[in-house]
Amino acid sequence: MKKTILALTLLASGMAVSLPALSDESNPAIVHRQGIYQIAGGHMTAIKSILFLGFDAPQDVTFHAQSILDAFAHMGNSYPPGSDQGETKAKPEIWQNFDKVKELAKNTREAAGKLVEVSKSGDKEASMVAFKQLGGTCKACHDDFRKK
Ligand code: HEC
Repeated sequence: MKKTILALTLLASGMAVSLPALSDESNPAIVHRQGIYQIAGGHMTAIKSILFLGFDAPQDVTFHAQSILDAFAHMGNSYPPGSDQGETKAKPEIWQNFDKVKELAKNTREAAGKLVEVSKSGDKEASMVAFKQLGGTCKACHDDFRKK
């Protein structure tokens, strides 16, 4: 229902955007963090299309990797108290193991930074390896801290 209302509001305000997978708007921290993760997911998909599916834009891998880094640099306080309530896939364990979560987030930022550097060299094989490592760091956190 809320989603419908927002969609209608956006239509009424003339915004030509489509917003997929809108989250629970009663909790802005959840909306924000899911939005940032979606950005990361979009860039990962774009990199995959270039490195593995043959989309012809090898020069853009650095941009996409850097964008993931930038997005995560703007996550703010994305797990404030109370943001376990609502339409979220964040597991309650996050708030009990926050040091671990921070470490996993740091691993992702480091792996994204690595892909930025490696992709600048234009070495596709090395970029593929760095991309897989980056994806592995996303998965490491999802496996333990994101609901299926
Ligand atoms: C430190 C933990 C952690 C790391 C690292 C992490 N994620 Fe996530 N991700 C989560 C959690 C928790 C959620 C669920 C958020 C929610 O529903 O509130 C999530 C949700 C998502 C979603 C779904 C967003 C939505 O609309 O519900 C995508 C896509 C995603 N992550 C992609 C990625 C990608 C790509 C990376 C790596 C580049 C990554 N994540 C790294 C913890 C992490």
